[in-house]
Amino acid sequence: MKTVITVQELRQARSSLPNPLGLVPTMGYLHAGHLSLVERARKECASVAVSIFVNPTQFGPNEDLAAYPRDVDRDLSLLEQAGTDLVWLPTPEIMYPPGFQTWVEVEHLTRPLEGAMRPGHFRGVATVVAKLFNAVQPQKAYFGQKDAQQAAVIRRMALDLNFPLQVVVCPIVREPDGLAMSSRNTYLDERQRQAAPVLHRALLAAQAAFQAGERQADKLRQVMLETLQSEPLARPQYVSCADPETLQEIEGQAPPGALLSMAVYIGKTRLIDNAFLGL
Ligand code: PAJ
Repeated sequence: MKTVITVQELRQARSSLPNPLGLVPTMGYLHAGHLSLVERARKECASVAVSIFVNPTQFGPNEDLAAYPRDVDRDLSLLEQAGTDLVWLPTPEIMYPPGFQTWVEVEHLTRPLEGAMRPGHFRGVATVVAKLFNAVQPQKAYFGQKDAQQAAVIRRMALDLNFPLQVVVCPIVREPDGLAMSSRNTYLDERQRQAAPVLHRALLAAQAAFQAGERQADKLRQVMLETLQSEPLARPQYVSCADPETLQEIEGQAPPGALLSMAVYIGKTRLIDNAFLGL
């Protein structure tokens, strides 16, 4: 496994790797969710590259950029074991040199849900992912369904900007108690960690209501909210039942395949989760 820092080193190392190359973009502090993307890439591609970069431009002013957990040595050993060929660890100065002023803005898809709560977040994500795509030139790029809106935004961007690659979206990896794996789960203390699976339970409750015949999107949102409210440590920010393509809230009847999603504070930690209705 080769580790590189600069764009020049990256391009040189990349040029000797066989195609198709699969890229897994990450912000590090890797867990089984990240590694599932590497494993999928390993199965589908002749070579695998992973980027580790805590991207400052996707964090809001009151978000956790400075506190974001980091452990590069551990990440590198996990990636080596997972059969990664190339790891790119750019610095903020390499990604955003002095004078940087070019941004990628995906319009409508970034307005609702996470975009409404985190202004500028997806501009930072789309810009850094476009830069990763241009620098690494993968044939396939792997993202997690955990960040459903991010996956939709990257798919749209890849189409709109003619990136010659396939975006592959992989299932959410969960802890045994249902909590979706996330680097941010390490912020939770013991009591909060016990409370956190309520997000998954809220999704399951909406799924159960749907299976029992409930079709009204409003009612499904209410079922999720009531489940979340049963946990005293959980403070819901939003719950959504949305069109999986446009991400617009559904009014009236929700069809199978609608996207259920939510953001919930447990203490100061903001957790997100989602599921496709009826799947
Ligand atoms: P990060 O949060 O490190 O996640 C990297 C990738 O792992 C994302 O595609 C995310 O959806 C996926 N992932 C995270 N938890 C997962 C889980 N439990 N199951 C499956 N996949 C999971 O997302 C980012 O970084 C950044 O926004 C990035 C795309 C790297 C741009 O900076």
